Amino acid sequence: MAGSDDATIQDLGHESRKFPPSAEFVATTLVADSSLHDEGRRDYEGFWARHAGELLSWSKPWHTICEWKLPFVKWFIGGELNVSYNCLDRHVLAGHGHKVAFYWEGEPGDTRVVTYQELLDETQKFANALRSLGVQKGDRINIYLPMIPEAAVAMLACARIGAAHSVVFGGFSAQALADRINDASAKVLITADGGWRRGEIFPLKPQADAAVEYTPTIEHVVVVRRGGNEVAMQAGRDHWYHELLAQAAPTCPAEPMDAEQLLFLLYTSGTTGKPKGIMHTTGGYLTHVATTFKYAFDHQPDRDVFWCTADVGWVTGHSYIVYGPLANGATQVMYEGVPNYPANDRVWSLIDKYKVTIFYTAPTAIRTYMKWGAQEPAKHDLSSLRLLGSVGEPINPEAWIWYQETIGHGRCPIIDTWWQTETGGMMISPLPGVTITKPGSATHPLPGIAAEVVDEAGNTITRGGGYLTLTQPWPGMLRGIWGDPERYRETYWSRFPGRYFAGDGAKLDEDGYLWLLGRVDDVMNVSGHRISTTEVESALVSHPSVAEAAVVGANDATTGQAIIAYVTLRGGLSVDEKVLRDHVAKEIGAIAKPKTIYFTPDLPKTRSGKIMRRLLRDVAEGRNLGDTTTLADASVVTELQRRATDSPSED
Ligand code: PRX
Repeated sequence: MAGSDDATIQDLGHESRKFPPSAEFVATTLVADSSLHDEGRRDYEGFWARHAGELLSWSKPWHTICEWKLPFVKWFIGGELNVSYNCLDRHVLAGHGHKVAFYWEGEPGDTRVVTYQELLDETQKFANALRSLGVQKGDRINIYLPMIPEAAVAMLACARIGAAHSVVFGGFSAQALADRINDASAKVLITADGGWRRGEIFPLKPQADAAVEYTPTIEHVVVVRRGGNEVAMQAGRDHWYHELLAQAAPTCPAEPMDAEQLLFLLYTSGTTGKPKGIMHTTGGYLTHVATTFKYAFDHQPDRDVFWCTADVGWVTGHSYIVYGPLANGATQVMYEGVPNYPANDRVWSLIDKYKVTIFYTAPTAIRTYMKWGAQEPAKHDLSSLRLLGSVGEPINPEAWIWYQETIGHGRCPIIDTWWQTETGGMMISPLPGVTITKPGSATHPLPGIAAEVVDEAGNTITRGGGYLTLTQPWPGMLRGIWGDPERYRETYWSRFPGRYFAGDGAKLDEDGYLWLLGRVDDVMNVSGHRISTTEVESALVSHPSVAEAAVVGANDATTGQAIIAYVTLRGGLSVDEKVLRDHVAKEIGAIAKPKTIYFTPDLPKTRSGKIMRRLLRDVAEGRNLGDTTTLADASVVTELQRRATDSPSED
């Protein structure tokens, strides 16, 4: 647990370069002074209420901005609005129906241009189709789709009729999907035959079928045709999306929802094996993502084309592909596939083709592009870009500088945005027309947000390393963990009383800039994806040959952290490393496959039997071990170190 393991609170070293926004950028930015930060500091409730009123349409005004009964918060009490109305109808009513919502590009190169009018038409029909399947306000709907416009339609259709969606990333296994469906007791599953990835179809419907065998609450499965691959359809249960739409009535008025109506669940990893269903509601969440989208990206609807490379299966896709951008009437690029198909310059070719102005991606992707080389972006005209963003993990100064020089040509501010599934939207980030950035620092809390770094005992510190905490409620704050209010309190509010503890280490430098230092708990961050050590351990131990497993995240130059597993086999059994790696992929998904598995007759344990993960991390990262006298059997470690230097590799 955090605190017992301060080896992770390490200093990133000294980075003294500073980058003020250019005069050219400042000349046309939305905010070039401290007015927003000042307003947020003076009265954070008033700040968020002003934006809720200015950026959104409400069918009924709220009577109370915020009710804070620690750790439970409500925002805009008494207010009513509909998220899908705010993302679609009002833009069409304002005469922007012809405006492009998505320039979608499939991996094979097929394209679709979807306007706001088209998105509204399809959302209304699909909302009616869901109703025809018996979906009612308050029901939970699972979504398991590739990156296609139907993913946004499905989410918005749920919002339109007050059903909560739970999107599961298409890379997750049938088992992981079934667990999430069962936890939410979802009634309908929306999936596709398959999608394109690395030049091939990855089938989704067979995974969905395998999951639905174990999910008694699923009554209907809706299948979007995308891959064209053969799929089995079970009569009465399975329905083609296009057939449902063909039969659906064209209009479905957006129902006013209470501001605190559940909008979605999104499952994320915690420190125990069971993923948590993070709850987000309607009015506060939409206010948070609409406001941060507008100001952190300096979004100007008449000039910008926005591209966020995340998948809708993650919170970044929810907040900055679907809800934040659409609430702002943005035009976006949505891309289905991998960045290196058919070649390593696909991303840059798309920026050039669609004249993307704002680009939002993850450090792991930036490091990969660095590896592929500067000649790839150099093949394309990237002069449309005016702002670059980063999210998901700490960005190392080297990658930041490469991004700034090689992609932004020194012209584009970089916003390094820190936030979490739980925070709903961005929390710590530069404001691009205001903040002087430093490579690798997320800089300061956004207007209306308050954060402090505390020491082990919970005392506020103003300089040096400690734990990142949030000290006042914000509108996009999670409202709880689905079905488990106690776990919510315990996970986020117990470590430092009165404060939300995010699970991250952070440092404040001499200028008061925040530097995120990574997770301090048993959660790994692999390519920006949160994976719990316990989940991977449980998956390993579920294999019949495995007696015990310990998993750690070790520093990795490309993926941030890599999953390293130490496995003890049952007496007399042997198993190939690849078999175990594939087993984890089957249980959780390919993203959770350990990079390396070490087989060991014993795991290092304290005398009380606790596995010493810190020590295993030291071994994995080749560090000196220091004091091992608390170990029950110190010779175990010597043996592990010897094996680590043999450096096995991933297949
Ligand atoms: O450790 C932090 C890291 O990602 C975690 C949240 O993961 P998730 O809920 O999957 O959401 C990711 C997308 C918002 C955080 O606890 N993280 C996210 N952004 C940053 C970051 N670490 C450092 N710098 C960031 N900009």
